[in-house]
Amino acid sequence: MSDTQQKLREALSHDLNAQVESLLIAGNKITCVLKEHTAPDVRAMIEETLKKAAPFKQVVVLSTQSRPEPANPQPIPQPNPKPQPESSPQPANGINPSGIDRIKHIVAIASGKGGVGKSTVATNLAVTLARSGLKVGLLDADIYGPSIPMMLGVDQRPESPDGKVMIPVQAHGLSTLSIGYMLADKDPVVWRGPMVHSALQQMLGQALWGELDVLLIDMPPGTGDVALTLAQRGRLSGAVIVTTPQNVALADARKGIGMFRKVDVPILGIIENMAFHECPKCATKSHIFGTGGGVIEAKEQSVDFLGALPLQSEVCQQGDMGAPIVLQSESFQGYFEVIATNLRAKIKL
Ligand SMILES: Nc1ncnc2c1ncn2[C@@H]1O[C@H](COP(=O)(O)OP(=O)(O)O)[C@@H](O)[C@H]1O
Ligand SMILES: [Mg+2]
Repeated sequence: MSDTQQKLREALSHDLNAQVESLLIAGNKITCVLKEHTAPDVRAMIEETLKKAAPFKQVVVLSTQSRPEPANPQPIPQPNPKPQPESSPQPANGINPSGIDRIKHIVAIASGKGGVGKSTVATNLAVTLARSGLKVGLLDADIYGPSIPMMLGVDQRPESPDGKVMIPVQAHGLSTLSIGYMLADKDPVVWRGPMVHSALQQMLGQALWGELDVLLIDMPPGTGDVALTLAQRGRLSGAVIVTTPQNVALADARKGIGMFRKVDVPILGIIENMAFHECPKCATKSHIFGTGGGVIEAKEQSVDFLGALPLQSEVCQQGDMGAPIVLQSESFQGYFEVIATNLRAKIKL
């Protein structure tokens, strides 16, 4: 037991302690899972005591009384998942042990095409939002090519207090989950459709996300089955489309926009990545892939333009080292702050 755990256990009376199934401290967050059938007033007392005992930490108290269904002991997908209801399986009563019901906004970061910088944008935007004081989560839904673990420098399996639910991994001030956390290095992912869906359902529905202002989902590329399922079932506030200025990327971005519109998910805006290159010596901007493609596309599609990002070799280097570029470069901090401000205005956050 760690010192903090001991201190918290001591702060709780004997009776309250008896109701605590597990107490986990990860970074700045204390997650307390209660035993089944813990009375609401006892739950409130435990929460209050923990908050008083650790005033600088975020306290999440979860009761297990309304766990929706028995879960798999391993956070690895099973080939034959139970059919899921169309909408979120969690009742919105705020006392579920896991799931997304206490997340204010879920925003998909999507593109029609791979390699345009979705994961880079999702990671740095999440860090920027967290630095502005919001509680932020990042879910890597790119099951076939998860890159969030590398971009955040995380090499850690999510812990599970009861062998059923997962605790998101804390990194750079974010709560994060990725299928990459659960795979041995370089394992090729060759799952069939139902297994992929099951993995995503687990990461959304059976993870202890707790209370978040916003959860960003790094979507798989394209408009395939997985993207469509998430768009339909993920309770999305909206989608942000990442594109580069080339015509091929713009054409694919259009397809992405079309898919979200078909399932009534609002498009919150377009981000143009690799929009230009700034010479490090003379600060001259060159538009390698053409000029203003994202702005024009946004206008044509009647969606907002959230901001542009330059093509800069440090982005790639830092991404590979697990150090998001906004933590290294003031100019990228500025670019991402513009995007974050525009996004917050769109979702009124
Ligand atoms: N603005 C940028 N400048 C330089 N390299 C970038 C930029 N954005 C992304 N990259 C690099 O391009 C590659 C693809 O980006 P990634 O975010 O993985 O795209 P996606 O998730 O859309 O497949 C990565 O190696 C990343 O580091
Ligand atoms: Mg990616």
